Amino acid sequence: MVIGASLCSFEGNKKEVYKDASAPVKERVEDLLKRMTLEEKVGQMNQFVGIEHIKTNSAVMTADELKNNTANAFYPGFTYKDVEKWTEQGVIGSFLHVLTLKEANYLQSLAMKSRLQIPILFGIDAIHGNANAPDNTVYPTNINLACSFDTLMAYKIARQTAKEMRAMNMHWTFNPNVEVARDARWGRVGETYGEDPYLVSLMGVQSVKGYQGNLNSDADVLACIKHFVGGSEPINGTNGSPADLSERTLREVFFPPFEAGVKAGAMSLMTAHNELNGIPCHSNEWLIEDVLRGEWKFPGFVVSDWMDIEHIHDLHATAENIKEAFYQSIMAGMDMHMHGIHWNEMVVELVKEGRIPESRIDESVRRILDIKFRLGLFEHPYADESKTMKIRLSAEHRQTALEAARSGIVLLKNEGVLPLNASKYKRILVTGINADDENILGDWSAPEKPENVTTILEGLKMIAPDTQFDFVDQGWDPRNMNPAKVTEAADRAKFADLNIVVAGEYMMRFRWTDRTDGEDTDRSDIDLVGLQNELIEKVAASGKPTILILVNGRPLGVQWAAEHLPAIVEAWAPGMYGGQAVAEILYGKVNPSAKLAITIPHSVGQLQMIYNHKPSQYFHPYAAGKPSTPLYPFGYGLSYTTYKYEDLKLDRKEISKDGKVEASVKVTNTGTRDGVEIVQLYIHDKYSSATRPVKELKDFARVSLKTGESKNISFIITPDKLAFYDKKMQKIVEPGEFTIMVGSSSDDKDLLKEEFAVK
Ligand code: BGC
Repeated sequence: MVIGASLCSFEGNKKEVYKDASAPVKERVEDLLKRMTLEEKVGQMNQFVGIEHIKTNSAVMTADELKNNTANAFYPGFTYKDVEKWTEQGVIGSFLHVLTLKEANYLQSLAMKSRLQIPILFGIDAIHGNANAPDNTVYPTNINLACSFDTLMAYKIARQTAKEMRAMNMHWTFNPNVEVARDARWGRVGETYGEDPYLVSLMGVQSVKGYQGNLNSDADVLACIKHFVGGSEPINGTNGSPADLSERTLREVFFPPFEAGVKAGAMSLMTAHNELNGIPCHSNEWLIEDVLRGEWKFPGFVVSDWMDIEHIHDLHATAENIKEAFYQSIMAGMDMHMHGIHWNEMVVELVKEGRIPESRIDESVRRILDIKFRLGLFEHPYADESKTMKIRLSAEHRQTALEAARSGIVLLKNEGVLPLNASKYKRILVTGINADDENILGDWSAPEKPENVTTILEGLKMIAPDTQFDFVDQGWDPRNMNPAKVTEAADRAKFADLNIVVAGEYMMRFRWTDRTDGEDTDRSDIDLVGLQNELIEKVAASGKPTILILVNGRPLGVQWAAEHLPAIVEAWAPGMYGGQAVAEILYGKVNPSAKLAITIPHSVGQLQMIYNHKPSQYFHPYAAGKPSTPLYPFGYGLSYTTYKYEDLKLDRKEISKDGKVEASVKVTNTGTRDGVEIVQLYIHDKYSSATRPVKELKDFARVSLKTGESKNISFIITPDKLAFYDKKMQKIVEPGEFTIMVGSSSDDKDLLKEEFAVK
């Protein structure tokens, strides 16, 4: 039976409605809120890092570092014992960086000793699988997934990740990252879905749906769309540097994936490190209150990024002290603080001083408790240790990781050497920093047990068991390659029938300062680091066919290789079975189908280089150096078969503003292998009152075609695909002519074109 809220409101110890699983969530929230002290409420808004994380980090730091350092989450003057005590006192709402089920259950047991027994919400960066914690399925990274254009795969991976997370008592993933990546220098490109707002939106939406399910079972987790906003176009390419973006660019490029995420039901959002047009995102009321909650009606809660509320004071300097920073952030709409010790005390003071109304605190606590109830944490605060490994790393999940890798690896160049003929190439030299390394797991992954990872060398041996693979180890560290090893590879290449160089970046975060790609690992060029180019050139000098495999997060301007080598494969970070997938593609067991979700420029000097640029971008081409065209364009990727596009037709040539056009095209597999083609539809508004991009992806289809088979593919062009922001920033469909382009990449030479008019 449900007892009305009013009955229990006048006395805390009346029937505890909040403990009644059959009561509506809203009533449970209100009942609990009434019982909470101010300290308990403010505590719900605070997050801490796990105690093992604190122990490990404080153990390796000097006394001085311990005093000043907050980055490793050690709190000077406090120990993990204090964190345990606060958990028991019920003044910590959430933890992050808890990496084992044992620790999660332990911390939860402490929370269960607290007065009101409010369970902890555990958050974790499960970016491509719950890979930050060992013994979980590691799927390809987001940029690889985006290149598959397979939104159902995004859903499936998120769904499986949610199950693996709940199996270790994790309830909240800090993903999907729905930032639109527009600068290859930025180290976080690999955790995004690339440069196109439409593709990023669809990938984000399916991820949100996959993670959250109905947000009411023990197979669902809370999704977090992040980072709001602009950090993916930092002014100098470095993480957290200012973003200076017009409202037009924000609304046209950066907002759509966030708005789509909110519409898909995402119930948490993380603000970005950076300032936006002079206001830190963490104290940006316009972003959080006006746009997110006002315009988009976001019902969930907003979490800060790592120490970024503090950075309003100590970095952006728009607050004179930390307490003022907390004030600014909360009043701008922040709900949860990641992470640290000063919050509870200072925020309580701010309320007691009358600066922050308690009703404002209640709003945030309501949003957080709502999620805890919905996820069933009050009923099931623990996860079962005896069942956990039945769910994590299951055969089904591993198979998905393999399939995803197969469809996200992009074939960039092939002058006929691929697929490899095992009877022709009997002896193959394999070398390069990523040839036999777990780095294929990518950023946001912990090292995994070797038996759970197939490196590229292992994959080659598995797929071509009769081939003799001669491996010259170059170590994992591109910055510290040994010249003698480069020479050795060059010498041994002479005795091989073919060479495979596996190059790229280093991304594993357990070697935080040694990486060349990933979070906080930005670059002032986009070339291969260290002796990698030398290695490629010297090995190729053997005169034997040399293939380049890239393992990386950001686009790499591999110009020499693109000019001189017969084949290049962009694997990105393909996850735990990436090595098998790469080998299957090299040997033609899998016909590659992925297309670039991001432009690959020739060089850093070409940045910003995006396919959906404005018409004047290349009015005056570069006078010297590289041309105005990329090394490889957005939407591009080869296959072992060929496809013919013909008969692009529009069902009408004229529509009204709210009308629709159907575009259809015939696609035929004209080659000798079955394949999957990603058919892309772009739109260009020919004349408009505000400038419009030369083309924008507005639809696509993944189409399976057997050899010789033809299919008619049709797309419905609805008004939302034609609308844009006019001079007054009103979203409208303007009369005029539109060009429809359909084809195999964003490159004009790959596109058929037709026109229609809106009257
Ligand atoms: C990153 C976030 C991440 C958080 C917690 C921050 O440094 O910017 O994306 O969720 O750390 O690990």
